[in-house]
Amino acid sequence: MYQLIPETPDDYWEVEALYDTCFAPGREALSSYRLRDGVPSVAGLSHVARDADGILAGAIRYWPVHIGAHDALLLGPVAVHPTRQGEGLGRALIEESLDAATPFGWHRVMLVGDAPYYNRFGFDRLQDVVMPPPTNPERVLGRALSKDAWRGVKGHVRRWSD
Ligand SMILES: CC(C)(COP(=O)(O)OP(=O)(O)OC[C@H]1O[C@@H](n2cnc3c(N)ncnc32)[C@H](O)[C@@H]1OP(=O)(O)O)[C@@H](O)C(=O)NCCC(=O)NCCS
Repeated sequence: MYQLIPETPDDYWEVEALYDTCFAPGREALSSYRLRDGVPSVAGLSHVARDADGILAGAIRYWPVHIGAHDALLLGPVAVHPTRQGEGLGRALIEESLDAATPFGWHRVMLVGDAPYYNRFGFDRLQDVVMPPPTNPERVLGRALSKDAWRGVKGHVRRWSD
């Protein structure tokens, strides 16, 4: 029903419009956006979901970040159009894009989000990883893409180009 394909530059403004629809106004004031400023999203992992008519139904983007000497993926934003929610598209976007992350050489992924939603995908609280303020530490979640990939990873999350 939906085709999930890597985002291309032609998708950019359509995805921005979808995010504007799905998130509260001022989304770009969130601290996670400071880690995205001036850094390209991860090509090949960021995906769009289109229906049979080519209408954009959902999207997920990833950015690279540093934590101490380690690299990680920052998952998000992920959004599904309000008329398409509850059909499993959010799950498909998250799981299919993460399946592609390991072959690209990524070992760990983090995000800032609702634990009750992301727990089902294997995300748990990252106790020792600090996002730029203001961020509720309870919402800083991570998942290992390879065994014990978060072990010993601690400190402030930094922009890729800093
Ligand atoms: C979060 C979002 C991407 C999920 O997309 P979706 O296609 O509806 O997700 P799925 O169909 O795979 O899963 C739906 C399930 O997730 C649950 N869910 C959705 N958002 C949730 C949340 N914030 N907390 C807890 N559960 C949530 C639904 O209740 C539903 O539960 P059920 O399976 O028990 O019925 C979508 O709701 C969305 O775009 N929300 C607005 C933007 C947003 O909040 N993005 C995430 C940032 S943290």
